Amino acid sequence: MTEPQWWQSAVVYQIYPRSFADSDGDGIGDLGGILAKVDHLARLGVDVVWLSPVYPSPQDDAGYDISDFQDIEPVFGSLEIFDQLLAALHERGIKLVMDLVVNHTSDEHAWFQQARRSKDDPKRDWYWWRPPREGMTGGDPGAEPTNWGSFFSGSAWEWDESTGEYYLHLFSKKQPDLNWENREVREAVYAMMRWWLDRGVDGFRMDVINMISKAVQPDGSLPDGVVSHGLYGDGTPLFTDGPRIHEYLAEMNREVFAGRDGQFLTVGEMPGVTIDEAIRYTDPARAEVDMVFQFEHVTLDQGPGGKWDVQPLRLTDVKASLGRWQAGLAEVGWNSLYWNNHDQPRAVSRYGSDAPEHRVRSAKCLATVLHLHRGTPYVYQGEELGMTNFPFGGIGDFRDIESLNHYAEATGHGEDPEDVLKALRYMGRDNARTPVQWDDSANAGFTTGTPWIAVNPNHTEINASAQIDDEDSVFAHYRRVIELRHTEKVVATGDFTMLLADHDQIYAFVRSEPGTALLVLANMSNETAVADQIPDAAEWERAEVLLTNAPSPEPSQPRLSLQPWEARVYRRRTDG
Ligand code: NOJ
Repeated sequence: MTEPQWWQSAVVYQIYPRSFADSDGDGIGDLGGILAKVDHLARLGVDVVWLSPVYPSPQDDAGYDISDFQDIEPVFGSLEIFDQLLAALHERGIKLVMDLVVNHTSDEHAWFQQARRSKDDPKRDWYWWRPPREGMTGGDPGAEPTNWGSFFSGSAWEWDESTGEYYLHLFSKKQPDLNWENREVREAVYAMMRWWLDRGVDGFRMDVINMISKAVQPDGSLPDGVVSHGLYGDGTPLFTDGPRIHEYLAEMNREVFAGRDGQFLTVGEMPGVTIDEAIRYTDPARAEVDMVFQFEHVTLDQGPGGKWDVQPLRLTDVKASLGRWQAGLAEVGWNSLYWNNHDQPRAVSRYGSDAPEHRVRSAKCLATVLHLHRGTPYVYQGEELGMTNFPFGGIGDFRDIESLNHYAEATGHGEDPEDVLKALRYMGRDNARTPVQWDDSANAGFTTGTPWIAVNPNHTEINASAQIDDEDSVFAHYRRVIELRHTEKVVATGDFTMLLADHDQIYAFVRSEPGTALLVLANMSNETAVADQIPDAAEWERAEVLLTNAPSPEPSQPRLSLQPWEARVYRRRTDG
């Protein structure tokens, strides 16, 4: 890294607007609700807000199906309220990053509406249209142009009777994929991005951006994927980090950001990205994106059957994975750091413990571990309160298209509904999407109406108003770790060295820069643990404790022993 970048010492907070705060009583969160809560964000001390999509949308995939990129969904507000929110954030020194969802549009977007009119329409080539498989009749089983499965169950191809071709949708059939091979598509996207920057926004989080380049063959066909389980082939190698992806991202950077004054942030969401690719994406010399969201550590509890094949999580795997990413991007590139987001279960229920006796301490432990890594940390709304997964009952409690489609498909194939529900309860995205718990009143202060998805009953105990003035709260601990990144240079840019890689309870690492070293020790288990075999243990035992989530150990205890979920950060001056 040549010069330090502002985002190296920044913390980002993700807002999922449907579930953040509702200002008009319709049960759905909105921009007015966010506006009313900007002081919560300022108090937490975050530098950037990433706003999940607020554009006009039929809401088939909760806003990730966009029908107009340059307006605001009326349920969420208007451009006028958007501008007020942007100003209110900027007044508090907080930047705003928009969600850029351009692998696909909604099928209700004017571009697709036009494209589907006829094979000769000038917009036809903006999407992926293909005839049925040779010798087969469109709409028949197996006639799809490739065997790719959609991420939301079923085939990735939808038959369009009226024009006699299929269109590609890696996600829902209401999310047709844009054809980035077409220059006009790229230019339209860049123009739209410039329009938002001109309005004052500070960058973009780019939805599944490493999927925009597909492995199209010289004859225009797309290859089949390998079938390993289930009915469909795995298309991911054919559209992940595809042949023209680096060309597209470099072009985007040039066309949108080059020559523009200001401090911007770009982060590419990149399922399946490897470390080698991530280095290319984030190498400043290549000017593609500032950082990427990699997915390795959020798949460690998934078996060969994929997302719903839930397996126990091993701490040694988490450390090996995050440690590899720390080492991989140490010299060139930059990591983003996250435990959860709107697509993942709640951090404390997955990597910590949401049992009453452990929840608070484990939430603080997770904050300490993540925020002391090298990279830019992301806090997902409610994480700063230690919010947990939801106690889902039957399928009627779920709202997310991914969960609903999976349930229908799996039970349709004879899987036991209770087994399917078990996986959904643990891994389902709705866990992250229940309303933010502001107080202990009827709907947790989220809405005066009927919430679009149930509020977690534990809001009577876990809520913002109970925490913001409490120095022992999860919220207060998040404030401290965020502050540390701002004040301690070693936290932002120091080197990272993993310790005790094989220990199955303790997460330990050192951060260092000339003159200063930090030791982070965290017991990520329900039992006491001792961090013996730490190099320089005697010196660390005498070092200053910079941050902790538990009372000081009894004098009779070895100082490097840790209670369940206890986390400590030591600091000492070094010679070199
Ligand atoms: C990733 C987003 O985070 C997720 O919520 C969405 O369903 C897919 N991309 C499709 O846009």
